[in-house]
Amino acid sequence: MTRKIFLTTALPYANGPFHIGHIMEYIQADIWARFQRMQGHEVHFVGADDAHGAPIMLKAEAEGITPRELVARIAAGRPQYLSGFHLSFDHWHSTDSPENTQLSQAVYARLKAAGLIYVKSVEQFYDPVKGMFLADRYIKGECPNCHSKDQYGDACEVCGTVYAPTELINPHSALSGAKPELRSSDHFFFRLSDPKCVAFLKEWLDAPGRLQPQVANKAREWLSGTGDKALGDWDISRDAPYFGIPIPDAPGKYFYVWLDAPIGYLAALKSYFDSGKARMRGERRSFEEFLGAADSEQIHFIGKDIIYFHTLFWPAMLKFAGSPFKVPDHVYVHGFINVSGEKMSKSRGTGISPLRYLELGMNSEWLRYYIAAKLNGSIEDMDFNPSDFVARVNADLIGKYVNIASRAANFITRQFAGELAFAADISTLTAAAQALTASVGDAYETREYGRALREIMTFADSINQNYDAARPWVLAKDPAKVAELQQVCSRALFGFKVLSVLLAPVLPELTTRAATELFGLDVPFTWADALVPPKSIGTYQHLMQRVDPKQLDALFGAATAAAGVAKPAPAKAAARANATPAALSIDEFKRVDLRVARIVEAAVVEGSDKLLKLTLDLGTEQRTVFAGIKSAYDPAQLKGRLTVMVANLAPRKMQFGVSEGMVLAASNDAPGLFLLAPDSGALPGMRVS
Ligand code: 2FM
Ligand code: ZN
Repeated sequence: MTRKIFLTTALPYANGPFHIGHIMEYIQADIWARFQRMQGHEVHFVGADDAHGAPIMLKAEAEGITPRELVARIAAGRPQYLSGFHLSFDHWHSTDSPENTQLSQAVYARLKAAGLIYVKSVEQFYDPVKGMFLADRYIKGECPNCHSKDQYGDACEVCGTVYAPTELINPHSALSGAKPELRSSDHFFFRLSDPKCVAFLKEWLDAPGRLQPQVANKAREWLSGTGDKALGDWDISRDAPYFGIPIPDAPGKYFYVWLDAPIGYLAALKSYFDSGKARMRGERRSFEEFLGAADSEQIHFIGKDIIYFHTLFWPAMLKFAGSPFKVPDHVYVHGFINVSGEKMSKSRGTGISPLRYLELGMNSEWLRYYIAAKLNGSIEDMDFNPSDFVARVNADLIGKYVNIASRAANFITRQFAGELAFAADISTLTAAAQALTASVGDAYETREYGRALREIMTFADSINQNYDAARPWVLAKDPAKVAELQQVCSRALFGFKVLSVLLAPVLPELTTRAATELFGLDVPFTWADALVPPKSIGTYQHLMQRVDPKQLDALFGAATAAAGVAKPAPAKAAARANATPAALSIDEFKRVDLRVARIVEAAVVEGSDKLLKLTLDLGTEQRTVFAGIKSAYDPAQLKGRLTVMVANLAPRKMQFGVSEGMVLAASNDAPGLFLLAPDSGALPGMRVS
């Protein structure tokens, strides 16, 4: 049955550009959306800017523009990220929109009619200079516990004490410096503690498979809190001046931004339906019909910091607003992204600027792949590590995946006019593809992307191994082995097609090129294409560049350090590095037989803390080389990589065995050791000169 999925990511505040945390969430949801579409399901993937609230109002004021001007400027910056990272939102909207005003006011009216809204007077600090009530973060003063100065109104950053702003000693407004006054004002509350809300939420949280277990447990804890942890009602109003949606029949009162933000999901969907785009996706019902339908699913991807809003307030609001509103089917939560082990701040982001990434011309599919490889269905944080990024992308995408096509396609194009041929029985290959497709599909569905990619790369390893074991470069020299050569390459290319289909949710652009240029399809892959052996191929065109570690240095703003400028080498080391060995004639240089070699095996050497044992494929033969690179490389990372070796070095007997050559690596006195690698397209056995 075709699923009808309404899919969202958390709505980003319209007060700044996207940071890497946003992009990570969008990549996670986008992969899921693309996977569902490949299965033939109907996906309506929408996003919007979260435009309201005091911080946006104050930022605009500080810039001397209106909040709407600020929001419009931020909105204008969104498309470059969305297209740059291949984020396939079907529609992008704003919470500051007529749809959201209408829907928010309608939801509120329903909640009021259900007896879930009441008014209560609240005493709060007021800034007499700015003429506005102050949220806790806009009040500063001395901590009542440790007496540290300049602490925020909710908690002390020095001793960690949590307090009310009224407990601060010598409080002042962080906006104007004025001494705040206590004033009373009527606030509107949503009665979350109402027994019918609590009973409903218990049932909603318990639905099997609706939430990740950790998330449901957290929400249950909040729901059943007692004493000062008891579930409170929710203050949903703010006084003017406020940038938000007016509360009907309550002059000077606005909805708190967190009330209208999630309703913005629905506003975005409505605007998308009204634009006719849903119809283009095959959905013929109206927004209201679709939203309320039994067969439509509402799914939200969010970060772990906003679980409370999405698992308590939001489902309760929807439930008691009644038809056509419907409660969310799933809320899928992810952790944060740290960079090199450092926590990132939500407002400041981290060391990686997504915009800089794009401006440097870095391939966005590298980032999609790396993030996917680190994602799973849990709410654990993930770490972005620059050297791991380089190693993983190069080893997996270039070394294992793209290389299959670049190697096998050349033979097929040159010797067989692009025609593939399989031996009568390819059932082992199709059976393997079938099993893999099922398992990887299950992994994508459950957001276990790391597992999906591990299984895909294991399959790539087996294709490479079978291909290498068949030695097509040897077959190519023997006219009697022509048919065998064609079959070996055809199997590798069928394998490449399977891999491309399974990688398509993560690498939409590259795999669409593979589908059209190489496999001659006129549309991107669907999931079922994985099991169809290709009949012929077009000419292979280079599919992806390797990551250059220098690009990562540039991304982190360390370009000069990498070039050796910012960090002068100690004098002695510099002298050594600069010392030119005695001149060598070209003939002498030519005596060194440098070859491209593929590392087919890499293993630690029992008893040695420096060496790795490498098995190198030179195209025509395999060699064993002991290389002192253990400090810099994990053997698993090396498998499948291409490097450069000295092929005519006299064999050396070592403690652990005979070494039949040497691999080349760069280093100086600074830590680090860098194995050389040819540009992609090079083949094992090629001479380096
Ligand atoms: O935390 C945030 O960045 C909020 N702007 C998320 C809102 S999600 C939804 F409710 F709109
Ligand atoms: Zn303190």
